[in-house]
Amino acid sequence: MPSLTMESPIASEEKDVCVVIIGAGPAGLATAASLNYANVPNIVLEKDNVCAPLWKRRAYDRLKLHLAKEFCSLPHMSLPWKLPKYVPRAAFVSYLDTYASHFHVDPLYNRTVLSASYDEAAARWRVEARNTTTVVEVDDHHGPLLETYLARYLVVATGQNCEGIIPDVPGLEGFSGEWMHSSEYQNGLGLTGKNVLVVGCGNSGMEISYDLSNYDAKASIVVRHPVHVLTTGIVYIGMKMLKFLPTSMVDKVVVFLSRLKYGRVAKKHGIRRPDEGPFFLKEKTGKTPTIDVGAMRMIKMGKIKVRPGLTRIEGDTIEFEDGKKARFDAIIFATGYRSTVRKWLKGGEDLFNANGMPVVGFSKGWKGDHGLYCAGFSQMGLAGISMDAMNIANDIILSLSPLK
Ligand SMILES: Cc1cc2nc3c(=O)[nH]c(=O)nc-3n(C[C@H](O)[C@H](O)[C@H](O)COP(=O)(O)OP(=O)(O)OC[C@H]3O[C@@H](n4cnc5c(N)ncnc54)[C@H](O)[C@@H]3O)c2cc1C
Ligand SMILES: *[C@@H]1O[C@H](CO)[C@@H](O)[C@H](O)[C@H]1NC(C)=O
Repeated sequence: MPSLTMESPIASEEKDVCVVIIGAGPAGLATAASLNYANVPNIVLEKDNVCAPLWKRRAYDRLKLHLAKEFCSLPHMSLPWKLPKYVPRAAFVSYLDTYASHFHVDPLYNRTVLSASYDEAAARWRVEARNTTTVVEVDDHHGPLLETYLARYLVVATGQNCEGIIPDVPGLEGFSGEWMHSSEYQNGLGLTGKNVLVVGCGNSGMEISYDLSNYDAKASIVVRHPVHVLTTGIVYIGMKMLKFLPTSMVDKVVVFLSRLKYGRVAKKHGIRRPDEGPFFLKEKTGKTPTIDVGAMRMIKMGKIKVRPGLTRIEGDTIEFEDGKKARFDAIIFATGYRSTVRKWLKGGEDLFNANGMPVVGFSKGWKGDHGLYCAGFSQMGLAGISMDAMNIANDIILSLSPLK
């Protein structure tokens, strides 16, 4: 008797659309909303089954927006005035849901884009997505449904935070405790009393180590490279000053304030500051300074221990670059993310490099050839996302305009 087996995907008919947007995070939602606002037909393909899954499922509970509200609204609809200056995650999620429904953004969920390539002859982007909701049967053959979209314009909004990076640490496979990427960390429940190592001192690492110590876990944080540690207040002052002062001057003030606040603790625990200023580094490399939400106080009190880089793991014992060894029950890798654009986008070398990041400078890298765009790769957080979305929508509207 022939049995039904999972086989190659079954293709559906090709659909013609004006704009395909890949990804329903803040960048995809903002671009779709800006296009809907001008009645430009578009569809959003999202691999997850909710919008903004990063904010709904892959962020820790105590997360708040690190930048003041005024820098975090999406186009055409401000964050509600009644929200606090630093918006908590749940409130931001509900803003995103309201935003999507207000602008009638209705993503197609459970659609994983497997490939996108430009068809010269048809002058269209051919986007193939696997529909993971539906399994189709044809005769005795069944398989996932493969959908093809032909788009005049393609907007890549899959984000810089698509996939967590786990560094190669010798012995990690044999680690006897549990380990995870920061995107899987929710809170310190279950880690009370445990020795937990947080690797990385960016925003996620610092905040997670602070969260752990609030749950009475014995947290240590690995600080390998020089880092600028600032308060939300110092960043706010810096961003306001940037509007009328050159970066070099703003950096001087910001570093001075940070030294006043953290100079002694940092020195005592071997936390070094980069030679270049935080806003200069942000503009040049896209790297964000670390915003302290309480971890530095815990470090000062000795509740969080600072460690240098780790060299290897054996069973439950971790060895550090200073030769010291210690036992740990859990490791959380707050070691960043990578873009996965290069896994599915064919071509587009004018816009994306081999790492799936824009080739051009950080603020002008939103437009490629043949109607290819990217939103959310400017390394400028939600403010950059809003700018990208509006630039892209305006550019598409202009190119569709009969007066052109
Ligand atoms: C923990 C954390 C805190 C942050 N805090 C702030 C902050 O306070 N302020 C700020 O300005 N910025 C912050 N950021 C940075 C940035 O604003 C967010 O990462 C934001 O969510 C980026 O939006 P995005 O739409 O570009 O990407 P994402 O939110 O990552 O959305 C991309 C979407 O694309 C989908 N996708 C990916 N690949 C495919 C595929 N092949 N097919 C279909 N769909 C796909 C994903 O499922 C996802 O829904 C933070 C980032 C992180 C990780
Ligand atoms: C996505 O797929 C899952 C099954 O894989 C299904 O339960 C869910 O309802 C689907 N969601 C949407 C929005 O289609």
